[in-house]
Amino acid sequence: MRIVLGVGGGIAAYKSASLLRLFTEAGHNVSVIPTEASTRFVGVATWEALSGNPVSSSVFDEVEKVNHVRLGHEADLIVVAPATADLLARAASGQANDLLTNTLLMARGPVLFAPAMHTEMWAHPATRANVQTLRTRGSLVMEPGVGRLTGKDSGAGRLPDPEDIFAAAMAAVNPLPAVPESAPGPLSGKTVTITAGGTREPLDPVRFLGNRSSGKQGAALAQAALDAGAHVRFIAAHMDVPAPGGVELIRVETALELRDAVHAAAPESDVLIMAAAVADFRPDSLSDTKIKKRDDGADPVITLIRNPDILAEAVQHRAANGGPARPALIVGFAAETGDGSADVLDYGRQKLLRKGCDLLVLNRVGTSLVFGQDSTEVTLLSPQDSETAPPATYTGTKSDVARRIIARVEQEFQAVPAVS
Ligand code: CTP
Repeated sequence: MRIVLGVGGGIAAYKSASLLRLFTEAGHNVSVIPTEASTRFVGVATWEALSGNPVSSSVFDEVEKVNHVRLGHEADLIVVAPATADLLARAASGQANDLLTNTLLMARGPVLFAPAMHTEMWAHPATRANVQTLRTRGSLVMEPGVGRLTGKDSGAGRLPDPEDIFAAAMAAVNPLPAVPESAPGPLSGKTVTITAGGTREPLDPVRFLGNRSSGKQGAALAQAALDAGAHVRFIAAHMDVPAPGGVELIRVETALELRDAVHAAAPESDVLIMAAAVADFRPDSLSDTKIKKRDDGADPVITLIRNPDILAEAVQHRAANGGPARPALIVGFAAETGDGSADVLDYGRQKLLRKGCDLLVLNRVGTSLVFGQDSTEVTLLSPQDSETAPPATYTGTKSDVARRIIARVEQEFQAVPAVS
């Protein structure tokens, strides 16, 4: 397939080299069109060497080949990564002031934008309107990742991972058959936000504090919610398994990034399911350079500080919010063991009260660990449990359990007044 890779003028331009590699290794013929500004970050020679094709930013090079018409016409797919705020604006207003924007106007196949910019730029009404315009015209604009940006700031605006852009690009060319409208699911029209995987808290550029969460339960929940017809916003920390196709994917790394993504998603969500294993602590400082062994043999001391409780915060924000009660349902997870002073259920009930969520999925962590395993046993605790309506327990694969949880969400949801 012939692919045009447009490269905008942002620091993330270097990541497009990995994306180009993914395209060429999959056997595609890629013509790179960098903007003039982007060549300050990655030079033309790099793109020529990696793509094996001539590269230019200008309509006035190789004029006899009429590149400003030909490249867009011949491309089966155009991917713009990084798509800066400026490039989105130029594309949305139909400008043709360099080779890339000319090519976008000549496009006959799908066009995919992978944005990268600072959070404020992404949130600015001008950018929101430009993204909306492009989407309305049929272009695909990915949601940027949430995470560390160029400076010390972090938030929404990071270029999505090259693997995710590659997957979105392939899906753009071979879209999945649309779910037939005649078969709406019980969660059709609802947005379900699911967090999954384990956060990683960086110590220095190469080390982090992590946990063993595989993300399997979160991925299974996302699939079950998709099967029920929901729009799924999937906030993925580190995962051993791929995110299911069809979700709106937001990648995060740390607990604070996950918190930002949850805060951004919550007001637009009908259901929030916190399946991620969030680190309770993070190092109090991040070393800009690799922590070295000291000549005097002294051991490094790492001070940990508490991360916010994102689930409890989501419950508090909902209570404090004067607007419609969103998310209408907030689901937490807990992995507990019993001990001499209380059994697993008691600890689960205490956690349900402490977090204030509407449903708590209690994993009984016994001799066989939950993390990474394919099967599991859960009890669904709710504040409405009573002796006559005791909590239900399910055993099975993570997919079986996910379907049970989503079925319970559907059931609970029917009892919750609709929110406009
Ligand atoms: N969670 C969260 N923010 C944190 C820690 C956990 O939102 N900083 C969420 C998890 O996603 C999960 C639920 O809270 O849905 C329970 O996680 P768990 O680690 O069992 O709870 P903790 O509050 O850490 O309690 P414990 O003292 O038992 O570790």
